[in-house]
Amino acid sequence: MSDTIDRRKLAEKVVVVTGAAKGIGRAVAVRCLDEGADVVLVDRDEAALNDAAEILKASLDGGGSSRFSLVAGDISAESTIRTMIDTALDRHGRLDGLVNNAGVFGEYNRFENNSIESFDQMIAINVRPAWLAMKYAKPAMLASEGGGAIVNVASMAAMRANRGLSLYGMTKGAVANLTFNAATEFAKYNVRVNAICPGPIDTDMLGTVEEFIDARHSDVARTKITETIPLGRYGKPEEIAAVAAFLLSDDAGFITGVRMPVDGGQSLE
Ligand SMILES: NC(=O)c1ccc[n+]([C@@H]2O[C@H](COP(=O)([O-])OP(=O)(O)OC[C@H]3O[C@@H](n4cnc5c(N)ncnc54)[C@H](O)[C@@H]3O)[C@@H](O)[C@H]2O)c1
Repeated sequence: MSDTIDRRKLAEKVVVVTGAAKGIGRAVAVRCLDEGADVVLVDRDEAALNDAAEILKASLDGGGSSRFSLVAGDISAESTIRTMIDTALDRHGRLDGLVNNAGVFGEYNRFENNSIESFDQMIAINVRPAWLAMKYAKPAMLASEGGGAIVNVASMAAMRANRGLSLYGMTKGAVANLTFNAATEFAKYNVRVNAICPGPIDTDMLGTVEEFIDARHSDVARTKITETIPLGRYGKPEEIAAVAAFLLSDDAGFITGVRMPVDGGQSLE
């Protein structure tokens, strides 16, 4: 008789991932599917979301496309947050994991030159949806029984000053703070809440950073940033996805409230 127990890290779990059309979010969605989870992918870029779905379909065996759902919407709208949680419950039967990953970098600006509109927009995209999603995920996880795990993608910018990036840093600091506050309050329900703090990861967002540093010579900017990283390279989205999968899994069952740097050692120097 063959052993039919599925030993993959996230077997039988259902995970919602925001910002899943590209970059880190897409890598997280791919990894969660590889680890056996059903996944709800959420993004406001519908075309990129459909492209991601094609990639997923190609990597899954026949019939595997029933293992993921797409929610096209802007996470700054409460309705998108409700829809993504409802989709996990209605189409996949439960909710075990949430990855609050979608975020924007905003603009490089001197502290006093930031507008009230930019401030409000950064909160509306980088902070409020993560808070709302945690708030709505908790009862859905409890209804599914067995607890749950939430992973918030913050940034090393949560822990340190970066000239010209005060609004981005503020939002990531807020996400880190919500992480350990929610971790404390949700612990008695066995819902763990952790944050990943990536350093420079090779995605479109980092391309924007390079352009800000040196609009004409992004290769020069890349070299400058790389020189600040002891491991001597940018991180890959898959390297954040691996940490997210671990934190979502039962292997991390005794870990809650951490802000985990994944930065090639950049914060050491
Ligand atoms: N790349 C890095 O170096 C780096 C470093 C630290 C932290 N982060 C964080 O990681 C997360 C993912 O970043 P990335 O580098 O993959 O970025 P990315 O720009 O490559 O991808 C972000 C995805 O989020 C989606 N998104 C953005 N705003 C949205 C909204 N309002 N509603 C729905 N979807 C939205 C985008 O459409 C896109 O698909 C972000 O929170 C970012 O702040 C990235």
